Amino acid sequence: MARIAYANGVYAPISAPMICAEDRGYQFSDGVYEVLLLVDGLLWDAPGHLARWQRSLDELEIAAPMSEPAMRSIIRQVVRRNRLRNALIYMQATRGIMSRNHVYPQPAAPSFVVTARPFDLSASHAKAEKGVKLMTAPDIRWSRADIKSISLLPNVLAKEKARQSGAAEAMFHRDGIVTEGGSTNIWMVDDHGAIRTHPLSRRILGGITRASVVQCAQEMQMTVLEDAFTLDDAKSAREVFITSATSLVIPATHIDETPISDGEPGPVATALRESYERYCRNTGICP
Ligand code: PDD
Repeated sequence: MARIAYANGVYAPISAPMICAEDRGYQFSDGVYEVLLLVDGLLWDAPGHLARWQRSLDELEIAAPMSEPAMRSIIRQVVRRNRLRNALIYMQATRGIMSRNHVYPQPAAPSFVVTARPFDLSASHAKAEKGVKLMTAPDIRWSRADIKSISLLPNVLAKEKARQSGAAEAMFHRDGIVTEGGSTNIWMVDDHGAIRTHPLSRRILGGITRASVVQCAQEMQMTVLEDAFTLDDAKSAREVFITSATSLVIPATHIDETPISDGEPGPVATALRESYERYCRNTGICP
């Protein structure tokens, strides 16, 4: 069955030409996106993702393509037309279609796209049981990494380089300070058992999973420090792990060639993964 996508009012096979050559997303990366999971028919952590979607639009002065109920109805349709109960939902809005010019004096109607593809939670669990390797990379992104912009070239290049070296994720750092991953937030467990992650700032994306994992950790009486740490801190940490909507919580076993502790997934990351999954199942909503 061909996958069905939504673009600007039309549901069509994903391979159909649905985007205009003068869409500003295509020409300038002038747009924003969100990714969220649907598990057993429920959207996980949806209020956070929908709120961040609106914030990203506001930061870039892109008009909301439609109301939230209308958007959820499109997500529902895309999921139904693809007969999915477990899916990764991708939504994107761009500033719209205009004759190519950097400036945008006349607002256009934003373009809006929704796609869905199957998500396999058991494959994700298997990945978490094994853990993943991280590859360090200089963070050469612009200074508004807090906006979920579709302009992801540094992330794409760093993640591909990581893949080529056998790592699952790039670990961005600025002058030795760990910011985040190519598409994840990065955490460590220090010698006192406290968990640490970069504070919210323009240097990182405020992960929705990050926010919920902070809450889960606090409910489990863990100490959470939103403090930056260095590459050396991470390499000598008890544990390192990554979080995102698509990876949930995944332990890291190595940074470059350095094993983290014994090079096996650690108990804190494993407990947080279970707790985050429980939280998402309890709070999931229908699209
Ligand atoms: N990435 N940092 C970056 C740079 C990201 O791209 C993401 C998400 C995160 C984690 O955010 P959240 O917990 O809200 O998913 C952090 C998505 C999954 C992606 O680009 O596919």
